[in-house]
Amino acid sequence: MTPMGFLGLLFLLLALYCGIDPFKKSAISDFPVFETHKVDLPPWELVPMASDKDNLLQKSEIKFLNQVQGPESMAFDPLGRGPYTGVADGRVLFWDGQNWNDFAFTSSNRSEICNPKPSPLSYLPNEHICGRPLGLRFDKKTGDLYIADAYLGLFKVGPEGGLATSLLTEVDGVPLRFTNDLDIDDEGNIYFTDSSNKFQRRNFMQLVFSSEKSGRLLRYNLHTKETSVLQRNLQFPNGVSLSKDGSFLVFCEGCPGRLIKYWLKGEKAGSSEIFAILPGFPDNIRTNKEGEFWVALHCRRSTYAYIMGLHPKLRKFVLQLPIPAYIQYMLQIGGKPHGIVAKYSPEGKLLQVLEDSEGKVVKAVSEVEERDGKLWLGSVLMPFVAVYNLG
Ligand SMILES: *[C@@H]1O[C@H](CO)[C@@H](O)[C@H](O)[C@H]1NC(C)=O
Repeated sequence: MTPMGFLGLLFLLLALYCGIDPFKKSAISDFPVFETHKVDLPPWELVPMASDKDNLLQKSEIKFLNQVQGPESMAFDPLGRGPYTGVADGRVLFWDGQNWNDFAFTSSNRSEICNPKPSPLSYLPNEHICGRPLGLRFDKKTGDLYIADAYLGLFKVGPEGGLATSLLTEVDGVPLRFTNDLDIDDEGNIYFTDSSNKFQRRNFMQLVFSSEKSGRLLRYNLHTKETSVLQRNLQFPNGVSLSKDGSFLVFCEGCPGRLIKYWLKGEKAGSSEIFAILPGFPDNIRTNKEGEFWVALHCRRSTYAYIMGLHPKLRKFVLQLPIPAYIQYMLQIGGKPHGIVAKYSPEGKLLQVLEDSEGKVVKAVSEVEERDGKLWLGSVLMPFVAVYNLG
């Protein structure tokens, strides 16, 4: 065979290998029906570029190292105690000032398979059995804790803790498959998100790769037990937070990387508008005393993610190549895990960006809770809580 012929054959075999992916190495090989959808992205110029040159998040203090695995949400009870946080093994833990205590759990079927493991990711295969509490919120009047469990739905547990009571596992006949975050108002309305009907939390990467639109913004009234779908066809809705005056709520839409304002009161009630374009992929959103919104971001939007977002066919082609999900994820997040959080005014103006662009201390932040001049930072990937002093 001539050298050219040999090269040609090699190329052909490589093309065949990539085309067929015989060893099922691609990120979507476990998903026989996998569709990619165009992401509703803003023009690139509108993606905020403001950065924190000093990487201030690197000054965060690492607390409770290896005592909490993948703490997603940080909540303080009406008496100011805490934080409470949901961890990878399915428990909600409570810091009493001296120790971590088991506070609550969502699964009635916990067993040794939920026992401690070396890293937050090692719990993924059993999350549907052990539970995975994401968003946490206290009812300020009753002290009840409301829990959005990624697999098991919406829960409530009293101030004494223990096994939480299931409130809701479906809305409109469609099961909650990825309950993500919630907030509660004074009238017993719980506003919450179901991120997707097709992908569960352990496949959040595939949800981003697909950017399918089955996410919903929902409401459940504790008194009337009525449920409503406020918005549907959302691409990975995630954090949700009422405004300080309760006239609107803001929720994060993950794939497009934006905040949506949904009016609850006044003449615009029931309508929505874009509140802000985010610098990346959001997770939870929480207000501070001033009614400003802290948004936790999983990562900045990379140019790669932007181009892939606009071109679903190209994205599907790349996803079918024998490249493992982890590498695809790295490309998506811009090469390395990093930390970024952003604060918005009640009008939706970007006020502050804090970063750890190297991911040296903080990465993939899932929630920012401001309290007494400090930011409590949770992350599904970190085995600790980071505390940043605003001082
Ligand atoms: C309970 O957990 C076991 C594993 O420990 C599992 O095999 C079983 O399917 C679970 N049952 C339910 C109802 O989830």
